[in-house]
Amino acid sequence: MKKVGVIGTGYVGLTHGVILAEKGNSVICYDIDPEKISRLQRFDIPIYEPGIKELVKKNCEEKRLEFTSDMDYCISSSDIIFVCVNTPPKRYYEGVFRRADLSFVENVARTIAQTMKSYKVIVSKSTVPVMTGKKIYETISKFNNSLDFDVVSNPEFLREGSAVKDSLNPDRIVIGVMKDSSENLLERPLKIMKELYSNFNAKIVETDLWSAELDKLLSNTYLSLQISFINKAAELCSATGADVSKIAESMKLDKRIGPFAFLRAGIGYGGSCFPKDIENLGTLLNDYHIDPSLFEQVIKINKGQRDGFIKLMECGLWTLKGKSIAVLGLSFKPDTGDMREAPSIDIVRALCDEGAIVRVYDPEALSEAGNHFGNSVSYCKSVEEAVYGADAIALLTEWDEFKTMDLQNVKSLMKEPSHFFDGRNVFDPSFMSGIGFYYYSIGRPYIKPVREVVK
Ligand code: UDX
Repeated sequence: MKKVGVIGTGYVGLTHGVILAEKGNSVICYDIDPEKISRLQRFDIPIYEPGIKELVKKNCEEKRLEFTSDMDYCISSSDIIFVCVNTPPKRYYEGVFRRADLSFVENVARTIAQTMKSYKVIVSKSTVPVMTGKKIYETISKFNNSLDFDVVSNPEFLREGSAVKDSLNPDRIVIGVMKDSSENLLERPLKIMKELYSNFNAKIVETDLWSAELDKLLSNTYLSLQISFINKAAELCSATGADVSKIAESMKLDKRIGPFAFLRAGIGYGGSCFPKDIENLGTLLNDYHIDPSLFEQVIKINKGQRDGFIKLMECGLWTLKGKSIAVLGLSFKPDTGDMREAPSIDIVRALCDEGAIVRVYDPEALSEAGNHFGNSVSYCKSVEEAVYGADAIALLTEWDEFKTMDLQNVKSLMKEPSHFFDGRNVFDPSFMSGIGFYYYSIGRPYIKPVREVVK
């Protein structure tokens, strides 16, 4: 059992803290936002993440988990401190890339330096650019060079929407530590971290600090690259009448590509990780004068999917002005209320700019949506309310609720002709045209609605 402090209770910090408590450690989670802490103390979870509420309640009741607004208390009570604060992209661009804002990380490093009285392992868990660990080390040493501590990089690979499951059963645990003067990995922090994870059933990758940081950036960038690859392929499929879903299905049978490859074509990736990690990688390449154009293309293709979706809607509807559009799904992926960098933000704004009448519905993201769209759209409480009298549906997130909705009923509530623009390739084109939808998807052949064929 270790004494663990977690600084920052966003998706990563909260999930990680809860999971470490569940594994038998004593965990104190701190957040700068007192409102968030008091909600957590009442088991009122500020994020939507399946399974987390039950684990928070259980571990608090069993006294392995507590929440505090007192950072000094969190630091002084813990031997291992996870830094899980947010590292948002900066406002200004360097070409197509933005650097991560590390000011929260720096603040935490300073507070740790001011507060710590005994040996600590300080673990960088937030998504950070390479060499942040070294900066944390230098910041603390500069404050007081007699402090006894180690800095570790232990990147997080959890996915939102399945964060609890992913954290309890990770594919791998990467532990990056600094090296001694003989270029050997430091044993003391490595041993402590391996003990912390000893009851996880996962392969542990032991490496140096920078390699661990880069592992995270490159892994996420590789997945983004797969998504942009398949989306570019989808463009070719649309132009030539091939079916990108069938091709992806076939490609995944190749063991070198594998069944979990990110080859679902659609309106592209969003979220707090992929966009930021690829941009962090891009600025790093620029810093080292290494050509970043491969990654610039990934970003451009991803952005192009959003514009392409609007063009697809214009193809189907001719003009968007005055058309009533039901937008189903706003979060960047299902099972989360998170809209950070979500494709829906650009798509809904473009629809509004074109003069469409936009009605939005999402099972979890409606409150965040208000911050993005203000009163330029109508917020609906159900699919039925959103689609009532609509000319078209734009499906932007593949929530189960949408996959299983009664399509006949949905169609009966809409205007005729009923258009369906599927940004996530959820439905079968023949089925959709069979029930009379003008159905458009990404990189799959368009099939005329049965009704039109009968005419
Ligand atoms: C990702 C990484 O998977 C995770 O390891 C890391 O810790 C954080 O970033 P997350 O952002 O939660 O996790 O979501 P993920 O399921 O990876 O999807 C990211 C985005 O890519 C979503 O917008 C999703 O819709 C999109 N996507 C994913 C595709 O467009 N096509 C795919 O084939 C897969």
